[in-house]
Amino acid sequence: MMIRLDKFLTETGSLTRSQAKEAAKKGRILVNGEAEKKTDRKIDPEKDEIVLDGKRISYAAYEYYMLNKPKGVVSATEDKKYPTVVQLIQDRKRTDLFPAGRLDIDTEGLLLITNDGELTHNLLSPKKHVDKVYLAEFEGVFPEDGKEQFQAGLILEDGVKTMPSHIIVNGNQARLTIKEGKFHQVKRMFQAVGCQVTYLKRLSMGSLTLDENLKPGEYRPLTNEEIESLKQQ
Ligand code: URA
Repeated sequence: MMIRLDKFLTETGSLTRSQAKEAAKKGRILVNGEAEKKTDRKIDPEKDEIVLDGKRISYAAYEYYMLNKPKGVVSATEDKKYPTVVQLIQDRKRTDLFPAGRLDIDTEGLLLITNDGELTHNLLSPKKHVDKVYLAEFEGVFPEDGKEQFQAGLILEDGVKTMPSHIIVNGNQARLTIKEGKFHQVKRMFQAVGCQVTYLKRLSMGSLTLDENLKPGEYRPLTNEEIESLKQQ
């Protein structure tokens, strides 16, 4: 796909548009070895070699990272108060990455960070019923028929009914599989049965499972197999 040189430079985080203009004027940008003065010209990022101040700019059309989200970090691209999940991805090549969905600030675990809008849309679409598995710790007495209530669908405090879900409870720990992603859904489901979530971690989303080697705050690129299997979801 051909894109404008200035777009390429901004998307790769190399320069702003006005900086690109200046740099081009001064002959600091080479396209396939030739100084390029026009930043509105089109280039093919897969084929053309773009060099800025003697350094080749590496390009990836799409990036996919698995992050073990730590507490205290928000699922956003920018925030005035807190660090964001995107800022944790220090190796990113692109400036347009975003989290595929949200985890609350105090939730840990699997979060996909990408710039693939189509894949994200498919994964998050309520129509696709992609399974999300959570590990929850809670306070309160889990009702005897709680498993059946989760299975039947719970009425949340705002009157909305959840889709059937599957829960395995062991003491004050539970493994819950849901197919939707309503605001604070897991916490509100536990509230609906009189319990309070004290710790929450996402373990998987569709075919993608959190890599156990990743400590909170750590990330790695997805493998090609992981990307392909997510796309087939
Ligand atoms: N449900 C919640 O309540 N919080 C999350 O972060 C994810 C699911």
